[in-house]
Amino acid sequence: MTSIRPRRLDDLDLTFPPIGQGTMGIGGYYEKDCTRDAEWIAGLRRGIDLGLTLIDTAEVYGAGHSEELVGLAIREVRDEVFLVSKFSAHHSRVPQVIAAAEDSLRRLRTDRIDLYQPHWPNPSVPFDETAEALDRLVQSGKVRFVGLSNFSFQEVQQATAILNPIPARIVQQEYNLIDRTIEEQLLPHCEATQTIILAYSPFLQGKMVPRDSRKMVLDDLAKKYERTVAQIILAWLLRKERIVVIPKGSTGTHVEEFAAVKDFCLDTEDIHRISEAYSPRISWIPASQIAVQGGAYTTYEEALANPLGFDPSPQDLAQSIMMGNMLKPTKVTQALSEDAYILTEGKIRFWAWVLAYGRHSLIPAFVEESPDREGGIFESEAQTDGTIHQAVMNHSAWTHKKVVYA
Ligand SMILES: NC(=O)c1ccc[n+]([C@@H]2O[C@H](COP(=O)([O-])OP(=O)(O)OC[C@H]3O[C@@H](n4cnc5c(N)ncnc54)[C@H](OP(=O)(O)O)[C@@H]3O)[C@@H](O)[C@H]2O)c1
Repeated sequence: MTSIRPRRLDDLDLTFPPIGQGTMGIGGYYEKDCTRDAEWIAGLRRGIDLGLTLIDTAEVYGAGHSEELVGLAIREVRDEVFLVSKFSAHHSRVPQVIAAAEDSLRRLRTDRIDLYQPHWPNPSVPFDETAEALDRLVQSGKVRFVGLSNFSFQEVQQATAILNPIPARIVQQEYNLIDRTIEEQLLPHCEATQTIILAYSPFLQGKMVPRDSRKMVLDDLAKKYERTVAQIILAWLLRKERIVVIPKGSTGTHVEEFAAVKDFCLDTEDIHRISEAYSPRISWIPASQIAVQGGAYTTYEEALANPLGFDPSPQDLAQSIMMGNMLKPTKVTQALSEDAYILTEGKIRFWAWVLAYGRHSLIPAFVEESPDREGGIFESEAQTDGTIHQAVMNHSAWTHKKVVYA
């Protein structure tokens, strides 16, 4: 049976396993959690033993505890591991990037990070500054390679040019059955420029698949290949040679399930079946129909004032959007009535969009749990005004919602 090949960057002489290990939640999400340290370390070690030697972490995960656990898991096998970490957007200025890297190195108990990335772009800090810090880290040997996480296609192009001659040939983006945004521009760009994409949240952060009838396709294929649905999803994502998936598994059992994906490939016709069933659906919904609940921020005024000091602020991101930068769509679920939605992911992006184009503008969103709804820009056109039209023109790449990708 065919197996999935390791990924190569020939000119950098780098080889990666097609499947790595994510660690968001290992050691806590945004607060430190020590309750399962031994189990988490054992899971990571099991993964390394099975060849999942690329490990992705970040200074923010578990408020640093994720890096501490990774450090413990890799200390006897450091040279076998390709270690990826990320610094937060509010640490984008030179001294902050350097200090963040030093802190990460200490927690990771190592002298080098193999791939270091800005976790999110920060449009309020000129990227030249961040690039200067990254250059210093590379020159000192504390960082081997530089990557870009959550940078849009346009931002990747700009940042890559600024970083040159430092190669930024590994980027990180969400990629799963619902969010296929990268297939529009970033993936073709990466294929053309020999760039690897670390595909995060392959299981929709544990939701695995949207709860709808399309799951039948995955269940059928799981039966046919005698694999689990999780394995079918990973195999489908890995149909693209530039993709490295970084699923997160807290348990040895899940990690073993990931590792076994290397040993099989889906037939072309089955790949098409999944691609068609989960063809990209970005809906353009009036922002006024989306309810924002709980946490920060729930009102326009709050988002504008930014009392929690998010950096970048919603206002910074609004400016970036107005300059044509395509932030990825938010996620919503349909509420009880046809025209009411609840925001489930992307709150700061949501407010940035509203600050940019107004509460009555159409906002791009993935609608979960309503696969048959034909939402979209053309249906909603009657409600557009000049501002909305400008928004749509700036973000026209997203109007190809009917395209089916192979
Ligand atoms: N750059 C970024 O901004 C960014 C954003 C998000 C994620 N990431 C990276 O990508 C990694 C993966 O993404 P993610 O953590 O968002 O989510 P994910 O990998 O899509 O899903 C992880 C969840 O799926 C569950 N799971 C794993 N295997 C399973 C299986 N076989 N059956 C049922 N459930 C299973 C896990 O449960 P258990 O934990 O119980 O095993 C966990 O709750 C992160 O850990 C992080 O390293 C990066």
